[in-house]
Amino acid sequence: MRFAKTFTPIAVAVGALLAVAPLASRAETVVKIGFAAPLTGPNASYGKDLQNGVKMALDDAKAQGVKINGEPVSFKLISEDDQADPRVGVQVAQKLVDEGVSVVVGHFNSGTTIPASDLYEKAGLPVIDPAATNPVISSRGYKNVFMVISSDAQNAGTAGTYAVTTTKAKRIAVIDDRTAFGQGEADEFVKAVKASGGDIIDREYTTNQATDFKTQLTNLKSKNPDLIFVGALNPQAAGIIKQMNQLGLKAQFVGGGGVKDIDFIKLAGSVAEGAMAWEYGRPLDSTPVGAKFAERFKQKFGEDVLSYAPFGYDAAWTAIKAMQAANSTKPDDYRPKLQSISFDGITGHIEFNANGSLKHGSSTAYQVKNGQWVTVKTVSGL
Ligand code: ALA
Repeated sequence: MRFAKTFTPIAVAVGALLAVAPLASRAETVVKIGFAAPLTGPNASYGKDLQNGVKMALDDAKAQGVKINGEPVSFKLISEDDQADPRVGVQVAQKLVDEGVSVVVGHFNSGTTIPASDLYEKAGLPVIDPAATNPVISSRGYKNVFMVISSDAQNAGTAGTYAVTTTKAKRIAVIDDRTAFGQGEADEFVKAVKASGGDIIDREYTTNQATDFKTQLTNLKSKNPDLIFVGALNPQAAGIIKQMNQLGLKAQFVGGGGVKDIDFIKLAGSVAEGAMAWEYGRPLDSTPVGAKFAERFKQKFGEDVLSYAPFGYDAAWTAIKAMQAANSTKPDDYRPKLQSISFDGITGHIEFNANGSLKHGSSTAYQVKNGQWVTVKTVSGL
């Protein structure tokens, strides 16, 4: 009794120290999240939109007090501008590997994602692709490449089937920008048209730097097409629809992924009326979580979602959830959890096939009516 009594003040002090010590040593662990996309140049508005989606996910994770292995963590976004250029894409990928990031969310263009992901695969660093859609991305047997967006086998493929079976176009033509994206989606569109018993009467080519499409459009006009599929992002797609109008080429314009965003209508003006575009996933405002995301995004960044931000958000959460499930931010620990991940994101259900492609993706057709994109149809995916 006396012994205990004598030492009571010391015991209290030691107890207090023990209570404080763990707190002091529990400084937040910083987890570096790599991000790469075009942040300058003609695709910069897409890249910034995507980056904002990732930022929002990391801020939400912080606000929710996300812990990994019971420890509080803070996420540090390390962003690189790949300028939509495959060579720069590989350089910034190497920088992110050297920086020791725990994951990469990126890139935006298929043309940068394909070579950059070769490098991530060699480095054993998981990359969550929120935007690049060429089917090659998930066809190389890589263990570190995961797509939270459906590929163009689905999106442009659905567009091709629809052109024949629903639009009932008889004289279908194609123009693409010869990038990994534009060419990839044009190839998938053509495959699906033919599989549905349709014909391609002409195929023309441009580049992702071009502003004048009159030669190709004059060739197309001479073949009298009733539908033209355009495999290009909105700077070129908007130029093409404008020049179709100038040349009196009246075919139905059908764009692939990335065409439907406010820039297209702004750039093309009134001639955008009637244009169709096929986009990945379901319309954002078709679900309560999507509508809420759009509202929160506008509040946070002062601008509307442009196009790919929700996929950036889901990609970042995919990595965070896998790290939480593995109690680790080390790729070798959390990679298996990525493979088995299953959760409902903003864009839909996130779960991967064995090759890292998205299970159950979908595509939606939109059309410009009275200067606004309206939803035509959502088609569930492969
Ligand atoms: N989906 C576009 C691409 O793959 C952005 O390049």
